Amino acid sequence: MVDRRIRLCAIEDLEDPGARGFQAGTGDWPLELFLVRRGAAVWGYVNRCPHAGHQLNWLPDRFLTRDGNLILCASHGACFELDTGLCVGGPCPGRSLRSVPLEMDAGGIFVARDTVAALAPLPSAGLND
Ligand code: FES
Repeated sequence: MVDRRIRLCAIEDLEDPGARGFQAGTGDWPLELFLVRRGAAVWGYVNRCPHAGHQLNWLPDRFLTRDGNLILCASHGACFELDTGLCVGGPCPGRSLRSVPLEMDAGGIFVARDTVAALAPLPSAGLND
């Protein structure tokens, strides 16, 4: 039987505050996402900036400002709230990162396979835009 969820990591695998990038799904077009932790709270977002569609990080797992209070896009400096993904500074104020619903229990942090299928890019995405 196939588990309907994909395990990403344990909460202890994330710094506090901290962030970490993941790929979920299989094939040539997996979902690129990242987790953000502050205390006992963890949020998930698609790793695609609403400004110009770039991945937010240039270095592995570098998603936060130096003080850990905001998510930072390395391309043009957009800043987003940790808990909402709302852009509060930079070139796309008022726009938001796309949230990835998570499930957390004693076994770790999970994303549903249905969620991955719904959020993963289509193979043709980006070819004509
Ligand atoms: S692509 Fe993120 S700020 Fe421009």
